[in-house]
Amino acid sequence: MKVIVVAQQKGGAGKTMLCVQLGAALAERGRVLLIDTDPQQTLTRWAALRAARGGETKVPLAIETLSGWRVSSALSRHGADFVLVDTPPKLDGEARLVLREADLVLVPMQPALPDLWAAETVLGLIGEIGPEAALVLNRVPASGKLAAEIGAELARRGLPHLAATLGNRVLFAQSFARGLGVSEAAPMSPAAAEIGALAAEVGERLGLAQPVAAGREGRG
Ligand SMILES: Nc1ncnc2c1ncn2[C@@H]1O[C@H](COP(=O)(O)OP(=O)(O)O)[C@@H](O)[C@H]1O
Ligand SMILES: [Mg+2]
Repeated sequence: MKVIVVAQQKGGAGKTMLCVQLGAALAERGRVLLIDTDPQQTLTRWAALRAARGGETKVPLAIETLSGWRVSSALSRHGADFVLVDTPPKLDGEARLVLREADLVLVPMQPALPDLWAAETVLGLIGEIGPEAALVLNRVPASGKLAAEIGAELARRGLPHLAATLGNRVLFAQSFARGLGVSEAAPMSPAAAEIGALAAEVGERLGLAQPVAAGREGRG
């Protein structure tokens, strides 16, 4: 079992979106459990939308809504291959308990300097606890050099980040609103290719071998 915690003190950075989209993509490789520890319960509400979709879902996703205190015991009773934990926009004592369980912490951030400053603080907090962490650039604009500039700044500051990024794409929001991952709703889209590449990179970070993807080369 590999536990991925998605954390970021900045609200609206894309924590819940990343949990949902990455969860649906990883569900093509193994059993996925999503855990919602955010009192706002956005992930839980998405799961309710999903439950109403029935036939349109292509992969099974288990979901639990728990306080951070109960995550550790939930992990010991579950047999999932991947667990993704969504967290509130506040790294308090409860969130720190959750971070202790992580094999990898993903920190989504938009490609902007204030977000980079916030992310640096979050990485410092995670560093005190110990798990491996990586920033994920999210809502990257389709045009312009912003992502490259921020990427270079991350490298200059020695901040760990994934090479894979997620664009600012309507399809991410649209599939979310339908209770689906984009890999289910629009599997041939550029958005699905992005999340597929991100899932592959996360798999590598977790030391998992690549599955042989039939008929798919590169990022598509
Ligand atoms: N890559 C993306 N493309 C388009 N919209 C996005 C993307 N990531 C997040 N959003 C939107 O941004 C808003 C905040 O995302 P959310 O995941 O709820 O953030 P958080 O959980 O960190 O508060 C939501 O309306 C979501 O639909
Ligand atoms: Mg959220």
